[in-house]
Amino acid sequence: MRCVFVLNGPSLNLLGVRQPEIYGRATLGDIESECRVLGAELGLSIDFRQSNHEGVLVDWIQEARGAAQAVVINPAAYTHTSVALLDALSAFDGPVIEVHLSNVHKRDAFRRHSYVSLRADGVIAGCGAEGYLLALRRVASLLAD
Ligand code: DQA
Repeated sequence: MRCVFVLNGPSLNLLGVRQPEIYGRATLGDIESECRVLGAELGLSIDFRQSNHEGVLVDWIQEARGAAQAVVINPAAYTHTSVALLDALSAFDGPVIEVHLSNVHKRDAFRRHSYVSLRADGVIAGCGAEGYLLALRRVASLLAD
């Protein structure tokens, strides 16, 4: 079965209680369950992880080389700051889809720039938790091509 790493950055462990008016009421556990259900339908095995630490995310992206066929990533605040995540993703060969729960273009100006977008094959923002599911559907069609 094809494996997809679904990686989540800082403070996404607080989803459901963190600014729910912006990020919604779904917890990260809820999102993980929905990803697993859809993954099973699409024939994708889901390796779902969250870290508050940039270096840990870099290690996981490096681990994806050889272990995963695609990466779905919500880099959270590191989206806007991290050349390290961009470089790690640039060394990964398969599809990369960047996800944001909120519409980052409707918010603070600094959220409009993403280092990760320089590598991402697709970007989904403002679709809430459903964005993760859209990303998995896109991964499935890219891997099928
Ligand atoms: C986020 C958007 C980022 O700007 C923010 O720092 C986050 C979450 C989102 O999912 O909407 O932590 O990636």
